[in-house]
Parts: sequence; C-alpha cells; structure tokens
Amino acid sequence: MLQDKKIVFSGVQPSGNLTIGNYIGAIKNFSRFSEEYETFYCVVDMHAITVRQVPAELRRRTYETLALYMACGLDAKKNTLFVQSHVPYHAELGWILDCYTMFGELSRMTQFKDKSAKHADNINAGLFTYPSLMAADILLYQTDVVPVGIDQKQHIELTRDIATRFNQVYGDTFTIPEGFIPTDTMKIMSLAEPTAKMSKSDPNPNAIVYILDNKDDIIRKFRRAVTDSDTRVCYGEGKDGINNLMNIYHAFTGKSNEEIEREFDGKGYGDFKLAVGEACADGLAPVRAEFDRLIAAKAYLESVMKEGSEKAMYYARKTMSKVRRKIGFVN
Ligand code: TRP
Repeated sequence: MLQDKKIVFSGVQPSGNLTIGNYIGAIKNFSRFSEEYETFYCVVDMHAITVRQVPAELRRRTYETLALYMACGLDAKKNTLFVQSHVPYHAELGWILDCYTMFGELSRMTQFKDKSAKHADNINAGLFTYPSLMAADILLYQTDVVPVGIDQKQHIELTRDIATRFNQVYGDTFTIPEGFIPTDTMKIMSLAEPTAKMSKSDPNPNAIVYILDNKDDIIRKFRRAVTDSDTRVCYGEGKDGINNLMNIYHAFTGKSNEEIEREFDGKGYGDFKLAVGEACADGLAPVRAEFDRLIAAKAYLESVMKEGSEKAMYYARKTMSKVRRKIGFVN
C-alpha cells in the first residue's frame, strides 16, 4: 500500500449539526489533504459516550456525521472514512496508553475541567481518560499530521508527550504527530457577538449558521448580524462584525478583501449582508442536496463505513502487533 505517503488523521464527534465555522475552519480543509496524504477521518462514537447519549440519537448522528463530511467534499474513494467503535484496536491501545498517561497530566486538561463542570452529575473515568483514547486514535495510524481546531491543541501536545514517553521506554514505536491548526483568518465568529467564536452550543440561534440551514434562515441570520456604527465595508480594527462577514464572504467567493471593498464601495451594510447571505446559501446548497441524497442511502453509507474500517484495521493491526511485542504480551 501507500506507506510512503504521510498520514493525516482526524476525529469528529457525531454531533450532527455542524456550523459554517466548522465548515470553513476545518472540514473544507480536510479534502485538500487527500491528494498528498493517506487520510483517515473517524467518527468518534466512543468518545461521544463520555457524556450521556440517547442511543437512537447517537446512531442517527453517526450516520449524519458521515454523510455530512462526505457532502462537504470528503470522497470515500480518496479518504478512509470510518467509525471508531468498528475498529476495536482503538479501545485496546487506549487502555495501554492509559498506563503511560499520568493522573496529573489528565487533571490539567481544560476540556476535562470544562466538561466536568458542565456534567457535574456524571464525572466518569472515561471523561477523565478521554485524551489517552484520543492519543490512541492518532498513534494507531502512525499519524504525521492532525488537523484540528485550536481547542484541541492541548490534547495534541499530550499525545506527543505520551508517544515520546512510550518511545523512550521501548524504542521507536510511534510517529510523533504534529497538529495542523487553522490560522485566525479562518476562525468564524458569532454573528450576534463577533468577538466570540461561533459555537454550536451558543443559546442564541441567530448567532450561528448551520451547514444544513435552509436559504431563508441563512439570509435572515446574516441580515441580523451585528456590525458597527460605521458605514463603510472595509477590513479594520474595531470592525469585528464586518471583518467576520468579509471572512465568510471570502470563504464562499474566493474574493480578496480589496475586491470586496471595491465591490461594496458606496453601498451600505444592508447590501453587503444580503450578498454574504446569498453567497453562503448558494455555496451550501449543493452540500445540503448531497447530504439529503446520502442520508437516504443508508446501505451505501454502511458500505463506506465497512470498507473504511477494513482499511483502518489493516493499518491499526500493524501498530498493535508492534506495541504488544514491545510491551511483553505473549503472542
Ligand atoms: N477530541 C476531538 C474533539 O472534541 C475529537 C477527536 C477524537 C479527535 N479523537 C481525535 C480529533 C483524534 C483529532 C484526532 O473535537
């Protein structure tokens, strides 16, 4: 197989309703790796159960997440798309890495602190050891590059520490991965409060545009977007709302800031907001159509999962037999 290619791995939570922030900042980038790298994208259902899930919803969202990623341009022929729980090696390596991850390290993870504050009635051991399972996801495939959001930076650093520690004890076993974290220009802010990141958990529905929103909702949300008391469409300090809209417009049209400034010279914010809404809705229309088509084709999605997990298993098995041997497990 293509061992000479570098490996990209990323995991996505089966949470279904992704925002244009996820789309512009992350998913759209995923597909561009597939030409140069061997790419693995995994729906992390095992991570999802660290907080309580309704079984039928978890199952539905697992299909939806796969369909959505494919609709956003991840070609199942060029990328290995699979579900974490279909490859039991994740659990196996996860346990092993638990034994090479320190209590103190896990205690310092900000995601653990945030989630245990949010789910105070269910601070389970899985929530605590979440990062060593994530390290297992990454290290199983001898991953070189991990595209993630900035919020995952601490987990990537811990993964590198765990891998380095293991390699020091047993000799070279794991590739030390690098995070690929999008720069600030790709960070999409809330439409209602443009100094804060656009977040799925924002209680204000007008702050967020979902990839699967319909055209009317998209246009309405952009029309209500918070801007400033200036009137000129231009990029600048203190114009967070306009800067954000320009970034979104750029993401969907490819136009540079100068081109955008020229296009809206002499026009007001109202015209600009409508144009951004239309560009966004038009850009997402094919994604939505493809999602609708895929989500109705359940058997096809299942065949993608099956093929994906078989290919993932091939890679993961190699790492696992190396790990087992080094640790001293009897073959
Ligand atoms: N922790 C990631 C998140 O919350 C999801 C994830 C799980 C992941 N395993 C991964 C991301 C491996 C990258 C690589 O979004």
